Amino acid sequence: MISYKDLGLVNTRKMFSKAMKEGYAVPAYNFNNLEQLQAIISACLESRSPVILQISKGARKYANQTLLRYMAEGAMNIVNASEHPIPVALHLDHGDTYELCVSCIETGFSSVMIDGSAHPYDENVELTKKVVNYAHKYDVTVEGELGVLAGIEDEVSHEASHYTNPDDVEDFVKRTGVDSLAISIGTSHGAYKFKVKPGESVPPLRFDILEEIEKRIPGFTIVLHGASSVLKEYVDIINKYGGKMEGAVGIPEDQLRHAAKSAVCKTNIDSDGRLVVTALVRKMLHDDPSNFDPRKYLGPAREELIKMIVHKNKEVLGSAGRA
Ligand code: G3H
Ligand code: 13P
Ligand code: ZN
Repeated sequence: MISYKDLGLVNTRKMFSKAMKEGYAVPAYNFNNLEQLQAIISACLESRSPVILQISKGARKYANQTLLRYMAEGAMNIVNASEHPIPVALHLDHGDTYELCVSCIETGFSSVMIDGSAHPYDENVELTKKVVNYAHKYDVTVEGELGVLAGIEDEVSHEASHYTNPDDVEDFVKRTGVDSLAISIGTSHGAYKFKVKPGESVPPLRFDILEEIEKRIPGFTIVLHGASSVLKEYVDIINKYGGKMEGAVGIPEDQLRHAAKSAVCKTNIDSDGRLVVTALVRKMLHDDPSNFDPRKYLGPAREELIKMIVHKNKEVLGSAGRA
């Protein structure tokens, strides 16, 4: 058993209570490789933002869970040796079984998500409660999910979303003991969140549902998944240099800004980072066709990712300067 505390990580409890009090959202960025992790850490140190490093089941399969764990530990050595350390949580994104959550907790994660949203309500409650009972013994925080997001959630694909029913949240939170709750109010995973015709704007998120949920569980931490904005400048670079991403569209940043001031204390961003890396790699390979040194295209991709993350922390989530 490796305790996250020995790795210099923190759970999400204090992060969320500060975010709730001060009206911002803590960013949760996914990583699968070295350059993404370096960019997240550099950008959050530069902008003095607390951060949640997220590892999905897919990331564990891609990069090897032991290696990812040591990468996070290495990142923490850099963070804690810096002049102004920032709070960092290591979080399992969309855990789908009790066993997976236990294995993450045993290898140093400080926070886990158990996503039982695909199960019938009572099964979701039972599964989530079981994970909470185990996790809390080790002071690991747990995120649950109610409602279904459209798009791909770690190999599980949902055609349509089901908004979270505000009537369920109080009972769910009480019965499971979760520390935070992911809800569905119109966001979805991936780079194609809405089908809009040229010139049309995307439909607004269902802030009415969020407000109703806040009334039922006042002061409780809400999590927004699928919160990438699918930044047009990067989609344009991808399309310009041989990509094909017509119709890619995300959540406008002003809506995320609005959400960050509410009970939404955690905002999940993965696709925006993927777009940045893909855009820069495409451009760099196009600009220098003779290059075969990955550092010469992954390096600029990493630099651009730092810029994008600093922008999110400063201008969208309001987490900059809160560490
Ligand atoms: O919620 C989904 C995240 O973006 C992780 O995606 O399962 O492809 O790593 P992934
Ligand atoms: P995006 O696909 O919008 O980045 O959402 C990421 C996410 O919710 C990870 O859990
Ligand atoms: Zn998600």
